[in-house]
Amino acid sequence: MIIDKYFENRRELINKALAKYLDSDNTKPEIIHRAMRYSVLAGGKRLRPTLMLATYEMLVNRRDKRAIQQALPVACAIEMLHTASLVHDDLPFIDNADERRGKPSCHKKFGNAIAILAGDALMTKGFETVLKLRNSKKAIQCLEELIEAASTRGMIGGQVVDITSSQKRVKLHILRDIHLKKTGALLRAAERCACILANATEQITNALSDFALNIGLAYQVIDDILDEVGADDLLDKESGEDQRNEKVTYPTLLGIEESKRQALKLIYDAQNIIKYIPNNNVLLEIVERIHDRIP
Ligand code: IPE
Ligand code: IPE
Ligand code: MG
Ligand code: MG
Ligand code: MG
Repeated sequence: MIIDKYFENRRELINKALAKYLDSDNTKPEIIHRAMRYSVLAGGKRLRPTLMLATYEMLVNRRDKRAIQQALPVACAIEMLHTASLVHDDLPFIDNADERRGKPSCHKKFGNAIAILAGDALMTKGFETVLKLRNSKKAIQCLEELIEAASTRGMIGGQVVDITSSQKRVKLHILRDIHLKKTGALLRAAERCACILANATEQITNALSDFALNIGLAYQVIDDILDEVGADDLLDKESGEDQRNEKVTYPTLLGIEESKRQALKLIYDAQNIIKYIPNNNVLLEIVERIHDRIP
């Protein structure tokens, strides 16, 4: 299928650019650069950078290499911030996960101290990578979005409440807010950065921000369903993590079937939000692929 080729090609471009932006394994001190490259280049679906590139291409209505090159630094920056969040998320004092992206997690391979520092370093490397944009005004605007998304008002804040809520039966609206922050915020930033680079209108930017929050929440709910039902092959990481950590999730609060219904509703809303945007076919396909993860 043409669309499969499209995703494969963008993944390749993203992976190549990530390998280029990250310092080489023999940069001193070697161990931290090896740990950073290990975690970023271990695999991963590249959902966030792909979404960003696809959105940018949709908005400028171009698919040529030059257009893509404009958006790649920010796309890679988002993937670095995302990977930083995963490296820290897996640490023994957080989710204590031994496996990530089908490989030993960063701390299993390099030890806790280096994993903490590799997460920190991927965060700063992500911000640094945004500055590869030629347009410095847009670079600052994108930085503002990424800082907001990663901050205590976004991903880090969501992770904090996620941890402090374990073993507690928090209400659904609190759990929703945790997911919107820990997972939704970075996807929202991906969309907003694409809008900045493409000079999108405020109306489109707001629509795509809401779209991202909907798919972000759906994505986390589905991931938690997969964790609960033991779909290791689809996850690329060990399932049962949430139960082991006594996490509150949509499945624990609502059960599997109702969680699936909620995910479907979020997906339906996301499709509706972007319905009127021209050239939305790749974005709709991304939504379809998120939908197809529902077991
Ligand atoms: C994992 O994100 C964390 C969640 C939001 C559930 P991904 O499922 O996008 O992980 P990678 O990047 O493909 O490894
Ligand atoms: C992770 O949520 C969200 C972030 C890392 C920001 P999870 O803890 O559920 O993700 P997995 O299951 O470890 O990938
Ligand atoms: Mg976690
Ligand atoms: Mg985890
Ligand atoms: Mg999980």
